[in-house]
Amino acid sequence: YYIGIDIGTSSVKVLAIDEAGKIVKTVSREYPISYPFPLWSEQNPNDWWEQSKLALKDILEYIDKDKVKSIGFSGQMHGLVILDSEDKVIRPAILWNDQRTESECRFLNNDIGKDKLLSWTANIALNGFTAPKVLWVKQNEPENFKKIAKICLPKDYIAYKLSGEFATDYSDASGTLYLDVKNKKWSDDMMKILDIDENKLPKLYDSFSAIGTIKKDIATELGLPADVKIVIGGGDQAVAAVGGGIVENHHCSISLGTSGAVFATSDEFVMEDEGKLHVFCDARGKYHVMGVTLSAAASLKWYVEDFLKASSYDEVLTEVEKSDINENVYYLPYLSGERTPHNDPDAKATFLGMTVRHERKDMTRALLEGVCYSLRDCYELMHEVGINPKEIIINGGGAKNDFWCQMLADVLHTKIKKLDINEGPALGAAILASVGDGKYSSVSNACQDIIKTTKEFTPDEVSSKIYSEKYKKYKSLYPMLKDFFS
Ligand code: XUL
Repeated sequence: YYIGIDIGTSSVKVLAIDEAGKIVKTVSREYPISYPFPLWSEQNPNDWWEQSKLALKDILEYIDKDKVKSIGFSGQMHGLVILDSEDKVIRPAILWNDQRTESECRFLNNDIGKDKLLSWTANIALNGFTAPKVLWVKQNEPENFKKIAKICLPKDYIAYKLSGEFATDYSDASGTLYLDVKNKKWSDDMMKILDIDENKLPKLYDSFSAIGTIKKDIATELGLPADVKIVIGGGDQAVAAVGGGIVENHHCSISLGTSGAVFATSDEFVMEDEGKLHVFCDARGKYHVMGVTLSAAASLKWYVEDFLKASSYDEVLTEVEKSDINENVYYLPYLSGERTPHNDPDAKATFLGMTVRHERKDMTRALLEGVCYSLRDCYELMHEVGINPKEIIINGGGAKNDFWCQMLADVLHTKIKKLDINEGPALGAAILASVGDGKYSSVSNACQDIIKTTKEFTPDEVSSKIYSEKYKKYKSLYPMLKDFFS
């Protein structure tokens, strides 16, 4: 068996596949998030560890422990975990969705300058990234900063606890803003700015690399063989791509989850001039680009549950099928600000263009379209860097709605395919574990064997044309409203 552990934001998910790549069992265990002050979002790394161990114990009830060969990881990205010289966690982890670092980001983007950041790291500073958090600790908690002996990311901490090896991988490290993504090494310039030495940072590996074997005492505690390999895995987006079979050059996926991510692989390093797209290493040992709209399925959830207070999603989503594509009602999905392409925490959501004739179904359509247009913003940026996918794999909760999938295929004018199994990062982590154990010669080979798609959505030419015209109008709205939002 190969085990994948996904250190998510609300829970840890553990999944086991057998030698044939079939999922045998999935379990999960939750842990709390704390929001001690406005904009803060923190977790205790020891909660991840305790719950991961419990989840491992849970899953080992269902499989033959002696046949476990390797364990791989996926993890929430960008979180800052700091350890002292005795490996004790110094302060709670500052998570990817923590927004406290506005002034540190301003310093990095404006005083140091976006051009320099782009040339050193291929990315610009965003509130959620790790580097501004390091600066925040230095500035606001100098006592804690002084104690730092090790700095790592969420999944790296669990891999360290399991193996004793202080390691990370290129995909997750890309989200720190102190990795030189192009050259796959820690950036000297960024380390200088952050006032950290390389000896505090984990050793870099490919996501499918075995970094060592399980520690003896942990193997004994869990009842696992002593030679179980620990495979480092990667950041959740890169590993979800493996779990979705996005493993050939210019493959593309869209996750229609709480946030929406447009993700595409690239065998060659590519750059986007203004840093609107994230340019990261992927889990195959190559690169990927990614654009993120922050409120994708979150927009629908807010609309159905909090705004309409509708009795069910079905009620709202069935009637929208009778709405007219030619109505000119618009929705901007910036409920929590926006990442790509505006990088504007102050952006707000809005409905626009209603008349007395319009009904709920027209607004629902506008909302679904607005999310698709926002994903098209990300998709167009991919075209700008020369990535023109032939098809897109869709995953995430929103992908359950076929009407929305078809709309997205029409808005993007690209064929969309659904996966038959939607286990994303946890499955990807188990696949990386199998590659790290030598079962497959590459991540692509493993996926060819394991990942299958079911349904297809082919773009309708007439609808695509109408949506393209509407997209132009959508695009003109944010620049007009920007000052009003701030
Ligand atoms: C990626 C990102 C999220 C987090 C949490 O840039 O912010 O995917 O990794 O899931």
